[in-house]
Amino acid sequence: MTHIKTCCESIARSGFGTLQISDAMLQDYRKIVHGYSAISQATKASFSFVQDTDGFFPFGAEYSLSEEHPDLCERFCYWPVHASKRTAFEFIRSDFFSAVDTFERQISELAQELMDGICAEFGVPPLASMRLASYMQLCVYDAQAASSDRRFAQDPHEDGHLLSFIKPNREGLVLVRGGSLEPVRLLESEVAVLAGSLLTELSDYAIPAAYHAVLTPRKPVARSSLIYFVNPCPDQVLTGFCRRQAINLNRTVNARHTSFGNQPIQLL
Ligand SMILES: [Fe+2]
Repeated sequence: MTHIKTCCESIARSGFGTLQISDAMLQDYRKIVHGYSAISQATKASFSFVQDTDGFFPFGAEYSLSEEHPDLCERFCYWPVHASKRTAFEFIRSDFFSAVDTFERQISELAQELMDGICAEFGVPPLASMRLASYMQLCVYDAQAASSDRRFAQDPHEDGHLLSFIKPNREGLVLVRGGSLEPVRLLESEVAVLAGSLLTELSDYAIPAAYHAVLTPRKPVARSSLIYFVNPCPDQVLTGFCRRQAINLNRTVNARHTSFGNQPIQLL
């Protein structure tokens, strides 16, 4: 598809691109963003698996720069690799969870297709399936975040993955380029795609990581952002895009993952 090729070229050049999503994905996205507020505290407390970075996490459990400066949000994470361990939970039969599950299947296919295109830009073979090393995350910023005197609800950082697909429901996401902040503006049917430092390493530093942040809103307004983080398959021997040398990113994957306050990824 033309728009995928355009996005691949843009990422290969600048570390940032935008991509159209289907109407079906957009509908699931709306169900996820709107459905979160109906989930009870009891469900959130029981469906939380810290060792796996899976399920619900309370406000302030993740940070971008320092532990004393947590992201001003709560979050829900979904890893398909852990789904078989959750079958006893009634919550997985909710509309919210079904929408997350369906959205993840579709965006994982888009991610694979996009990465195939990026590899093609550099003339290297495609990567093995990344789905079971990748995960979704919904960040929910309460309206009270606006009362914070912080400039950022999420401090400047890069995500430390190959790619991040980010779809916020209102403004606030900015790219940090040098000393300037560039607002990311998306059509309703678009998702932002940001390169992370794993892709920088894999591309032998040809592709820059997209540093970004979330501005604290000036008025009290709730904000949500649905993200898909893409990691490489840990079993694949990767080859650098330019030097064509073998690269093992598994230690780096975990170093990046734990730098946000998360537990190490067990499958690595
Ligand atoms: Fe981020």
